[in-house]
Amino acid sequence: MAVGNEQYLWWQSGIIYQVYPRSFQDSDGDGIGDLNGIKQRLEYLQWLGVDAIWISPIYPSPMADFGYDISDYTGIHELFGTMADFDDLLQEVHARGMKMILDLVPNHTSNKHPWFLESRSSKDNPKRDWYIWEDAKPDGSEPNNWLAMFGGSGWEWDEKTEQYYYHAFLKEQPDLNWRNPDVQKAMFDVMRFWLDKGVDGFRVDVMWHMIKDEKLRDNPPNPDYKPEMATYEKLIPAYSTDQPEIHHIVQEMRKVVDAYKERVIIGEIYLPIHKLVTYYGKNGNGAHLPFNFMLLNLPWNAQKIGAHINEYEGALPEGGWPNWVLGNHDKSRIGTRIGIEEARVAAMLLLTLRGTPTMYYGDEIGMTDVTIPEDEIQDPQGLNMPGLNLSRDPARTPMQWNTSNNAGFTNGTPWLRVADNYTNLNVETEQQDKESALELYKQLIQLRKAEQALSIGEYIPVQTEGDLLAYRREHENTNLLIVLNLGDKDTMFTPEHATLKGQIILDTNLKRRTEQVNDKLEVRANEGVIVRLKG
Ligand code: NOJ
Ligand code: MG
Repeated sequence: MAVGNEQYLWWQSGIIYQVYPRSFQDSDGDGIGDLNGIKQRLEYLQWLGVDAIWISPIYPSPMADFGYDISDYTGIHELFGTMADFDDLLQEVHARGMKMILDLVPNHTSNKHPWFLESRSSKDNPKRDWYIWEDAKPDGSEPNNWLAMFGGSGWEWDEKTEQYYYHAFLKEQPDLNWRNPDVQKAMFDVMRFWLDKGVDGFRVDVMWHMIKDEKLRDNPPNPDYKPEMATYEKLIPAYSTDQPEIHHIVQEMRKVVDAYKERVIIGEIYLPIHKLVTYYGKNGNGAHLPFNFMLLNLPWNAQKIGAHINEYEGALPEGGWPNWVLGNHDKSRIGTRIGIEEARVAAMLLLTLRGTPTMYYGDEIGMTDVTIPEDEIQDPQGLNMPGLNLSRDPARTPMQWNTSNNAGFTNGTPWLRVADNYTNLNVETEQQDKESALELYKQLIQLRKAEQALSIGEYIPVQTEGDLLAYRREHENTNLLIVLNLGDKDTMFTPEHATLKGQIILDTNLKRRTEQVNDKLEVRANEGVIVRLKG
């Protein structure tokens, strides 16, 4: 796709789909999704029209944090299959014209990783400095006040060598010391291992955590902390995250992928916009796509979302390509956060904004959070901080494929319960229903592929009031108007300056296509419409 001198790459014009491998498709009856399962479902993903899949970690792991605690960066966990299965899947993804993005978890390893076993074996082990070891304070307490994201102190005492090690997440996930050049080299080699196989890029886990303050200064208290929040929120992570030296590391990672053709680095970064955009690097030498999680955190409010879109568009550095995320394996599903009707409008928002959309598996069929009884909770974040409703299991339940047992996810016992609503809400049923959530997603994706105005066009905000959010997407002679009603009242949209003439080409209820628009446009409660403007 060439526009003037500019080339648009697959990760700019395409759509990314996140697969949580444990929950996508089980092929061997052990109740856990696997690589061969993903392979069986590629046909579906191709039918849906997504361009790339990002697969959450599939590497050997004790599964203390469901794969985000890696014990071998260049292997495949036997639960998910073999390296041959992986090679086969990658080949099949490529044969279907799609791309594959792997999860890279460079901030921490498993405490069972050979690197850590060596590191903790003695103070003078050559790998001691690969992790963050510190003496206790004179009174025996932790080196500083840093807290772990999953509850409690960030420091764990090691009896044998009488030092603490730092872990931003579980104590089973010791943080690597990225100031050590050998660590850097080892991880860059890991990247090359997968790039050489042909993997198209990485989603880099907690990129903003990777370097910590050299002096390990105490984090300041958070004045907005409330008891119903996770304990981690007690402090502002001013010294444990987002340190200036991180940009050098990201730049080095970028050099690694830039030695290959058209590979991508996506950074998982939860930061406010002005800090987030620094991860694009200087002159674009950082991450290609620092994940923009704005839509995960903002209330479902048209004026607030509109203001944030503009702020984000305005803050992007020259050449920085935007991106949008509606859901992931760490957050409550969109259908539960804002409501099932509203989620259809959110789908239209995600797929009509300027920038690469990332979808979360199951959102396209309208899956919602599944209540998991206390004695079935699996997620360490939920188990370690009971009573705060922090378990991420509800958004990680098995994909709903059809009306058969366990929604067609497995012949065995699923590792996490399947939603009760699967008999209505599943791929096969929705493929037959011309007004289903899945049909809407499919139409939106097709339209985004057909209309360059949507994939690469300009974003032009349109002034609105109240619950309406409106913008235009423009490219060459195409001018599309998107009007979303985020409220529950039917509302008349009347543009202030321009004349409004055109035809509806898609609406979230799939009922109004071909309707002509003349000066006025009624947008119903929780409805979104796309109008092709004339002239
Ligand atoms: C972010 C991942 O998305 C999350 O699932 C994981 O628990 C933490 N990083 C730790 O790796
Ligand atoms: Mg399996």
